[in-house]
Amino acid sequence: MPRYVVFGQPVGHSRSPAIHRAFAAQCGLALRYDRCEVAPAAFAEVARDFFARGGAGANVTLPHKAAALALADVADPAARRAGVANVLTPVAGGLHAHNTDGAGLVRDLHERQRLTLEGRRALLLGAGGAARGVAWNLLDAGLAELLVVNRTERAAAELVARLEDPRAAAAPWSALAEAAPFDLVIHATAAGVLGQPLALPSGLVAAGGLAYDLSYGSAAAPFLAWAARAGVAACDGLGMLVEQAAEAFAIWHGVRPATDPVYAMLRASMP
Ligand code: ATR
Repeated sequence: MPRYVVFGQPVGHSRSPAIHRAFAAQCGLALRYDRCEVAPAAFAEVARDFFARGGAGANVTLPHKAAALALADVADPAARRAGVANVLTPVAGGLHAHNTDGAGLVRDLHERQRLTLEGRRALLLGAGGAARGVAWNLLDAGLAELLVVNRTERAAAELVARLEDPRAAAAPWSALAEAAPFDLVIHATAAGVLGQPLALPSGLVAAGGLAYDLSYGSAAAPFLAWAARAGVAACDGLGMLVEQAAEAFAIWHGVRPATDPVYAMLRASMP
């Protein structure tokens, strides 16, 4: 039976095994999918060993996404431009890295949240790996403007320089209120994961707009609570999680599974 794995630290919370098992059942495929908790210092060796023993594919989550790209022999454009990968696949030419996070986010925004990105103003909070994984895809989807705001201003400026797109700009955190409102506010900082507070003004989201946290569960709770206080529509990244997994499943198995039933299953299992 082909073996798949998700590498991370921590990884006990990962929903990837449940998602891929559900996709496989839906498509009538037999596979094994496990979690593998591994420290950064051991990641490359453990991942190489997994593939040397015939592993058929791996998802990679925090904190190994940059290391996953470095490990690969070939990378798709989405992984290369973001500098991070979330999918590793052994192919004839060596190990292939993909990044499916950005495609997963855009698909969730279009299909599940019914938000048109064409011509919209978006704010990206954060400039780390999570933000880099989605920034290009948001622009590709036709945004009119993408403002990147990060605690450390230089990182926002560096991301904007890499984007090489006149629609992208960086601004300091202190300019948020002045730059508002936005049709879409994407929360891509690690503050929620780290349990640290995030100071945001209330008028950030335009009428009919959406506040979107790339994480889910307790990590998304503070941002969603801010959105509730601000009285704006908001959602967590559970839909993105399912959609990025479906992209990975399609790379591995050549078929894109139906995501709605799996999304519903996950949502029902959330506290
Ligand atoms: P990830 O892969 O989750 O994006 P990362 O690459 O380490 O992790 O990036 C973390 C992001 O969260 C960065 O944008 C970071 O801001 P800095 O560049 O200033 O470090 C942001 N971040 C982390 N803790 C934060 C906090 N308490 N408030 C605001 N931003 C925070």
